[in-house]
Amino acid sequence: MNVLVTGGCGFIGSNLVKYLRKHRPSWKVVNLDKLTYAGNLENLTDLENDPQHVFVRGDIGNRELVDHVILKEKIDAIMHLAAESHVDRSILGPEAFIVANVLGTNVLLEAARHARLSRFLMVSTDEVYGSLGPTGLFTETTPLDPSSPYSSSKAAADLITLAYERTFGLDVVVTRCSNNYGPYQFPEKLIPLMVANAINDKPLPVYADGTNVRDWLHVEDHCAALTLALEKGKKGECYNIGGDSERQNIQIVKAILAVVGKPESLIKYVKDRPGHDKRYAIDASKSRRELGWAPSHVFEKALGDTVKWYLDNRPWWERIVSGAYKTYFDSQYATRLKG
Ligand code: NAD
Ligand code: DAU
Repeated sequence: MNVLVTGGCGFIGSNLVKYLRKHRPSWKVVNLDKLTYAGNLENLTDLENDPQHVFVRGDIGNRELVDHVILKEKIDAIMHLAAESHVDRSILGPEAFIVANVLGTNVLLEAARHARLSRFLMVSTDEVYGSLGPTGLFTETTPLDPSSPYSSSKAAADLITLAYERTFGLDVVVTRCSNNYGPYQFPEKLIPLMVANAINDKPLPVYADGTNVRDWLHVEDHCAALTLALEKGKKGECYNIGGDSERQNIQIVKAILAVVGKPESLIKYVKDRPGHDKRYAIDASKSRRELGWAPSHVFEKALGDTVKWYLDNRPWWERIVSGAYKTYFDSQYATRLKG
């Protein structure tokens, strides 16, 4: 099997490429990534000399390139992860999200249709469902009701993918996953950002009162689910993926401070994110039943291991926080802390 992974130099993508090389060693993994601010080839140094991993730098929106890669590498299936992924950035500038997430996905779907690929796996998100109140779970039939430019661009891509099955008969599967954590997450997201700030004795900006809830899933468990969805998912179906690990943001932040050994006085409650979804929680029973998948990581232990990974791999995130993206980080913190 020759699989094209898009966005394979990002957080989940790089973990997925490594997961596939380890657990599906006969597969060739072709990794198409534009290397935006979030893409980092350093995430894949382990695979530098692996002939079964082929890296192609390029944009999913470039149809000519996508057609060329599919033909040259004899691609059978696409696992589509490339995206602009950060909600706060989508509030600062929605356009890049529409271009990459909506138009980029459509280019890939057209290429997959014309090349008659055997499967197109669309990696969507639980954010397409919008926000829950204090009770209830998202199921695959929950109506889509996205709140942010990011989640609405993902919802558009998710629905266009399903439309390609109904209209053109393309074999598609859509997965909708909750918040991931683990190694190589870009330090703008909650967990790596809080670890970096705690280590540097900088304030930890918690939106509103910190009671928003996310359902956390270890990235390796997500990679296992994506692999099974590619292999066993039913054509035209959606699969929720979640960790049964609902936590308030403030619980996560306090747990991180405890592992790093820093005081809770570093916590700074700041102005809320506009359109901030209150709670996400996933019913993943369909994935368990139909894909034979179950998460294997226990949240508190795996969160501790993740924090330790960031402590042990300081140069990896320090280069990001103090390098080319310093202006973004500094202006973001300044704006939030004012709130
Ligand atoms: P990320 O921001 O860490 O990585 C995105 C990758 O996509 C980067 O390597 C980037 O260079 C690449 N990319 C962006 N635009 C591109 C383009 N036009 N052409 C080629 N490559 C491009 O994102 P992530 O957190 O790893 O998320 C990966 C996917 O999983 C996304 O589709 C996201 O919506 C989805 N998802 C993420 C989570 C999560 O918790 N992080 C949860 C559910 C779903
Ligand atoms: O649910 C899946 C989604 O999870 C993915 O689709 C997105 O790609 C991914 O970025 C993530 O979105 P969130 O917005 O939930 O993740 P983020 O890490 O930005 O924020 C997690 C929670 O923490 C959210 O309630 C906002 C809050 N937060 C975040 C940051 C960056 C803070 O309180 N302070 C912060 O500085």
